[in-house]
Order: sequence, then C-alpha cells, then structure tokens
Amino acid sequence: VPAAAWQRAADVRDAVRSFRRHSGKEGLLLRGLPVSSGELPPTPLVAGSVQRAPSVSAAILVALACGIGDPIAYRAEKSGALVHDVVPVPGQEQVQGNVGSVLLTFHSENAFHVHRPDFVLLMCLRADHGGQAGLRAACTRLALPLLSSASRAALASEEFVTAAPPSFGPEMAASRHAVVSGAPDDPDLRVDLAATRPLTARASQALAELGEIFERTARLVLLQPGDLALIDNRVTAHGRAAFRPRYDGGDRWIQRTFVSADLRASRSVRSHDGYVAQ
Ligand SMILES: [Fe+2]
Repeated sequence: VPAAAWQRAADVRDAVRSFRRHSGKEGLLLRGLPVSSGELPPTPLVAGSVQRAPSVSAAILVALACGIGDPIAYRAEKSGALVHDVVPVPGQEQVQGNVGSVLLTFHSENAFHVHRPDFVLLMCLRADHGGQAGLRAACTRLALPLLSSASRAALASEEFVTAAPPSFGPEMAASRHAVVSGAPDDPDLRVDLAATRPLTARASQALAELGEIFERTARLVLLQPGDLALIDNRVTAHGRAAFRPRYDGGDRWIQRTFVSADLRASRSVRSHDGYVAQ
C-alpha cells in the first residue's frame, strides 16, 4: 500500500473521530473513496435490495460505522441488512421513502422509532442521470435560532405523534413525543415532515414554521460517485430533491448504513445482542 494511501486512511479516521464528538452544522462529506474493485454492476431495480456479499463500498460503510459507533439495522426494514441499496424503483415514484423519486421531505431517519439511528451514512456509487437528486440536510443548530419563541416552546412539548410504517407491526404503537428535546442550547430533533402529526393548533403552526426554516437553511449536496455523507441524525433532518429515473441500470445508486452511538441502549429490542433491532 503506498504511503499516500495510509495517510489518506489516517485523515479519514481523524475526520470521522472528530465528527463523532463534534458533528457541527454542516455534516461531514468524504470524497474520492473507491466504490468498487471492478466495473460497477447495473443499479438494482427492486425494492428491498441490499448488500450481503462483500464489496468495497459495503466494507467502507461498515468500517466507518464501526469507527463512529456500531452499525444498526431494523428487522422490518430491508430485511435487517446492514448495508441498504437506496435506488429508485419502477412504479414507486411517489413514495416518501428510499424507493421514490419525488421530492423527499425533511425527516429524521426512522423518526417513529425509540431507538432510531444516531448517524446515517450515505455513499454514492452512481449519481442520477440529470444531476438533480441533491441530498438536502437541515441542521437544528442553524434552524432553531431562527424559530419564534412560541414555536420553539410548542416543538418542545409532547404534542406530536409519528406513526411507524405498517411493516413494523402493531406493537410499534405511536406515542406522543416532542420534536425538540434535551439541552435547550443544543437539543435533539425528532421529526418527519411527511409522517409526524401535530396534535394541537400551536403544534401544527410550529411544524409549518420549522419546515419553512428548514427550506431556507438546508444545505444541498449533489453526491458524486465516491462521496460519502455522514449525517448526525440527532440534530439534522435530511431529504432529497426530485429526480427522473430511467430504469436503465444507470440510475442513482446510494448505499446506506445506520449507526448507533450506544448500541447497548437498544439491547431489549435486539435478540441475541445482534445488530438487528425490532
Ligand atoms: Fe432518510
């Protein structure tokens, strides 16, 4: 291995280690990573596509996940695999989820789940044909100072519910939660603008204001092959611009891994202390 490659690996390790502790306002974008040992296969076309065989990109995702915490997966999502393919699927264009291609609204990943991921890693293997499918990220550290104090108070109250997708089963009952919680000067975020339901008039108004501020403060990144975005899911909502898939094997292909900063905290919903939560 050439010395430059070792230096590069050390730089990546240092960047990830520092992001783990201080994730800042911008997220972390690593560029120029290898995505494949040979020619990249066609972009998968089916829902539920995952990586179970070793590959360069999957190895990088899981190695980085272990560097920032532990990988975590969900039994009901992508069959519990640690590395997911995020690809557009024919007939699913309108879905507010990883298979769709319409505008994906701002959300915390798995906002409905008590043990949602702390970090989301998104690695680009292939960009979309039109160069339109930008990743959008809105950080509370930029957005919340712009909120009115009335909305801030409403978001901190347990006046919201976020339902789980039906695949998670009836036991995943939605309970009331706040959208912002924890330290008043640097709170955690829990929201999905497509799924979180406000229970009061003031909660509804606050959610609308938050959405407007996300629109104004969000960063847009057009991921290129070899780019890996690290998102701190505790303080950042993310989404994706609309794009037009062709379903010709050359469509946008992102691989995704979720990370838990404290895997032990979800032990009661992970059988045999594995990486897959219910
Ligand atoms: Fe997401």
